[in-house]
Formats: sequence, C-alpha cells, structure tokens
Amino acid sequence: MRIAMIGTGYVGLVSGACFADFGHQVCCIDKDSGKIDGLHAGRMPIWEPGLESLVKSNAERGRLTFTTDLPSGVADAEAIFIAVGTPARRGDGHADLSFVHAAVRELAKVIKPGTVVVTKSTVPVGTGDEIEKILKEEGVEGVSVASNPEFLREGAAIADFKHPDRIVVGAEDEHARDVLREIYRPLFLNRAPILFTGRRTAELTKYAANAFLAVKISFINEIANLCEAVDADVQDVARGIGLDNRIGPKFLHAGPGYGGSCFPKDTLALLQTADKVGVDQRIVRTTVAVNDDRKASMVDRVAAALGGELSGKRIGVLGLAFKPNTDDMRDAPSIPLVQSLVERGAEVAAFDPVAREQAERIFTDISFAADAAAAVAGADAVVIVTEWDEFRALDLEEMAGAMRGRALVDLRNVYDREEAERAGLTYFGVGRGRQGSAR
Ligand code: UDX
Repeated sequence: MRIAMIGTGYVGLVSGACFADFGHQVCCIDKDSGKIDGLHAGRMPIWEPGLESLVKSNAERGRLTFTTDLPSGVADAEAIFIAVGTPARRGDGHADLSFVHAAVRELAKVIKPGTVVVTKSTVPVGTGDEIEKILKEEGVEGVSVASNPEFLREGAAIADFKHPDRIVVGAEDEHARDVLREIYRPLFLNRAPILFTGRRTAELTKYAANAFLAVKISFINEIANLCEAVDADVQDVARGIGLDNRIGPKFLHAGPGYGGSCFPKDTLALLQTADKVGVDQRIVRTTVAVNDDRKASMVDRVAAALGGELSGKRIGVLGLAFKPNTDDMRDAPSIPLVQSLVERGAEVAAFDPVAREQAERIFTDISFAADAAAAVAGADAVVIVTEWDEFRALDLEEMAGAMRGRALVDLRNVYDREEAERAGLTYFGVGRGRQGSAR
C-alpha cells in the first residue's frame, strides 16, 4: 500500500516507520523543515527506544521517505493518515483541531477519489464528520474518512505498534474497512484483533480507554493514602486485587500522579465533549481533580520527610521525565514538585538520564547534575520521581555516605524500607504503611 503520514511527531513518526517496516511505501510529511532535514540526516526529533534504527533501515530500503511538501507527499497515496498535534487549548482544555483542519484543507486540493483519509491523532467525537464537511466544502467527492486511534505508550511505542492488544477502526464504508484491513494485514499473523466500529465510536473508544486507565491510577493513589492511615501496604493491595482477572494487575502502581501527553489532555477533552452534550462524567471529573491534587501535594511529602522545613535544605531529585524511557516533560509530576521545592526555599540538584534538555527549558533555578551520584551528593533528602532502571540499582550505602541528611523519598516505590534502612537511610515510600510512607 502507498501511505502518506501527515505530521512526524510522536504518533506519526512511529506509525509511519512501523507501516514502512510492514512493507508499505510510506511518505512522512511535516511543515517543520528542521525536522524533515534532520530525518533525512538520520536525526530523530524525539527520543524513543528502537526508533532511530527502524527509521534508518526503512529509509535505506527506500520504503520510508520524508518531505515538507504536502501535495507531492500525498499525491499517489491510497491512505492518508493525519497525525498532527491536537494540544489542549489554553483555558478551556478543548482539543485544538486547527492543525487537523489546516491539513485537511491543504490535502483537499490534491486528493483523488478512492483515497481513505484516516485520523490517527486523538480527536474529539465528531471530528471525522467535520473532516467530511470540509472536504465537501472544498469540492472533494468519493473520499472515505475513517478513524484509527493509536494506543502507543511512550518508551514502548514500537513494541506496542507491532504487538497491539487490539486495532480499532471506525469507518462508515466497506472500501475504508478494506484498505485499513490491508494496511494492518501483517499484524494478523500476530493474531492482533481488529475491531471495526462506527467512526464516532472509534473516536470515543480512544478517550474512554485513556480515561479508564487514568481512573485506575487515581483510584490506587487514593487507596495508597488510605494504606498510610491504616497501616496497610498498597503494593500488596494492588497485587491482591490485580490477580482478579476482572480487575487486572496493570496500572495499579501508586505514585506521584499521572502525567504525559495523553492522560491529562484526553481526560480534559472527554469532559469538554461531555459538557457540550450535557452529560456529566463525574468519575472522570473527579479523577482529574484527584490527580491535580496529588501532583501538588508531593512537595508536602518531601517536607514531612525533613521534619516540615524545606528552607535551606538540599534536595537531590532523581528523574524528571513523566515516566522512564522518554525525554517527555509534558505534565510531568516533577514540574509542580520541583517548582514548589524551590518556592519553599530548597536547593534542588536534579538528574535525568535523557530529559535534561527539555527540563532546562522549564526549570531555571535548579542545578542539573551530570549523574545520580552528583545529584545526591550533600543532599538532605533524595527524591525518586521517575523510575528509570538505573535508579532501581543504586548503591544505597554509598548514597547514604554521600548525603548530608538521610531521607530517601521514594515516590515510585522502587525500594523496600528494610533495604533502605539497612543502608542507613530513613525510607519514605507511597502507601506503604504508617511508618514507611512519605506523609
Ligand atoms: C498512555 C497510554 O498508555 C497509551 O495507550 C495512550 O496511547 C497514550 O497515553 P503514555 O502517556 O505514553 O501512554 O504512558 P503510560 O505508560 O500509560 O503512563 C502514563 C502516566 O501514568 C505516567 O505518568 C505514569 O507514571 C503513570 N502511571 C502509569 C502510574 O502512575 N501508575 C501506573 O500504574 C501506570
């Protein structure tokens, strides 16, 4: 198949490279000439494990090309995927569709009958209808519009793309379904289920999936608070409930609250859609509030670990990205935490294995350490904010020896209290009984 991918951000580039790897002919299009020049030179605009070699090997085979010129990029495509950004609008949280609309108006000038236009960006329910309307306004006939949401996790995006739990395709005609079936055919060998639905249903499915996962996280975070009050262990509670197939073990890790490019944005956009049609979504609304409070309260845990006072204290922060294996800082729990630490008079030395460059744009009044050892040296408290693998294997004794104080605030429950105490540290985790919790 000949595929055009408009937008070489996270979703577009990963999807484009994976489609090319399936053997399709893919042209990735982006307005940003810096990005396209970089890709021609083998430089990735994002940090994602495995992406560089996948892009390079498919580009070398001639299956993956890049251009800034939309008309030539989509010229002979059988399917045109739209994977441009849909950021939350400032103020109302509504998904900003201006990039989607602009792309559709531009491709309308050159698109041929029989082409399938597919939204891959997360777009509010009804966006497919709007695209159809724009195409009609521009005099385009005989083009199908489908929805094919992505469910990729950053840091594991390529594996998620190649081994998906399911593929969701929302389409209103048989031709669109045939084209998408053909595009995804290589995955059927892996027995990935493909679910055909109406277009609006597919659009909503994406929001419902992310909102449900966000609910799970906020739920376990509240249970963690309860564990701290009644002297129970949230890790064991999560295991105890997760072994029930109806609940499942995933997304039950208590922590500093969810961040990233999807959950915060998509939960807000779902609430906007619900408001617009006058159907309240109380569970999602509460989930968002619980998560906002959670992120804002992490600083109190650090303060509590230091006896309540942060002024003049040195804090070593390990991990800044919203999760491991990414340099993405969007809505990262580290942002309100570090900002509040500084506001309350603490001195922060932070280390993240890859997010330093992104973080330097956000934090101007902290120091960035070259490695974990440098971040913890002389610290009164060390805070693990992101569970990078290298923070799972720290030499705690060495760390204790290098610190000025003794507090280890483990917001990801990477360590056990016993092992931390053996190393001479005072341990504060999340939801780990009365003694071992950072409250
Ligand atoms: C998510 C969805 O998983 C993916 O399907 C969708 O397409 C995009 O959004 P992503 O944002 O990359 O992916 O990260 P994910 O691994 O889902 O984590 C999201 C946030 O939740 C992170 O901040 C993470 O630390 C947090 N989280 C996750 C928890 O706090 N506890 C958990 O148990 C799981």
